[in-house]
Amino acid sequence: MSFPIHRSRRLRRHPGIRRLVAETRLHPADLIQPLFVCPGTKVQHDIAAMPSVAQMSVDLLVEEAKRLGDLGISAVLLFGTPQKKDDTGSEAWSDSGAVQHALRALKKECPSLYLITDVCLCAYTNCGHCGLPSDHGTVLNDTSIELLGQIAASHAKHGADMVAPSDMMDGRVAAIRRALDNAKFQYTPIMSYAAKYASAFYGPFREAQDSTPQFGDRKTYQMDPANRREAVREVLQDIDEGADMVMVKPAMPYLDVLSDIRAAVDVPVAAYQVSGEYAMIKAAAQNGWLDERAAAFESLLSIKRAGADNIITYFAKDIAAQL
Ligand code: PBG
Repeated sequence: MSFPIHRSRRLRRHPGIRRLVAETRLHPADLIQPLFVCPGTKVQHDIAAMPSVAQMSVDLLVEEAKRLGDLGISAVLLFGTPQKKDDTGSEAWSDSGAVQHALRALKKECPSLYLITDVCLCAYTNCGHCGLPSDHGTVLNDTSIELLGQIAASHAKHGADMVAPSDMMDGRVAAIRRALDNAKFQYTPIMSYAAKYASAFYGPFREAQDSTPQFGDRKTYQMDPANRREAVREVLQDIDEGADMVMVKPAMPYLDVLSDIRAAVDVPVAAYQVSGEYAMIKAAAQNGWLDERAAAFESLLSIKRAGADNIITYFAKDIAAQL
């Protein structure tokens, strides 16, 4: 197998042959675009650290969703913000919540788009944690998962095609499955944020959603970035509880985890290229330090190569337009 008989460069000499031998391909149908919905009409709040991403009221969101559908994107992941936070995060399961309103409008106006909702409490509670706070500065588990089930059932009732719990409480997938089944949504699948790490890369998102915890941090429920084997355990447990798809988050700093999980399970695996990953590329590109399109494309390709079947990314719209 040695030179000069073998020359690897032979199969790299022309774009045609490079395309023929490419092992990994990106397709618009692989990409899930996160969308942020807020109360009101004609409201758009740009997010400073996430250029081209904004919180939108339902009317503007519907227009954006139509554009995404036209580009061949099959699914969106919806995040909401409440009119008013409270102690239990009650607007998260309110019939008049922004997400519920958006679901009704999107189902009607963009029937071919697949609607996934983020299920969590952090944007809705005063404390900003993904579960309810206890009296002694911890985050309650077993009470929180009942509320998460209630949120998931509310989303399904208003039109969610799939729910995606991002809270990292123990037993939430089982609680959500129970709540969905009890409300006769046996066919609504769950994509669990199964291997979700306590990451610094969520910074821009928390600013956008005003969901920074008001005490402590999320390390008592999100995974320790030092741990790799534990991710497989988390994933297997979620599948056991009824998860139809699992997710790794963030993506690029955790490609080893993604690859392990791909090898360990045969359910579809998603990866979330999070706000900080997006912001890094955008900021470098704005400074002229990186070619944005090439860097975004390469980052997504690396995530797919590592094992993701689909990718949640703020680049979805831009990249789909170029594919
Ligand atoms: C809420 C949630 C977060 C993200 C998705 N769902 C933030 C967090 O856990 O702190 C992060 C998304 C991103 O950074 O793009 N639990």
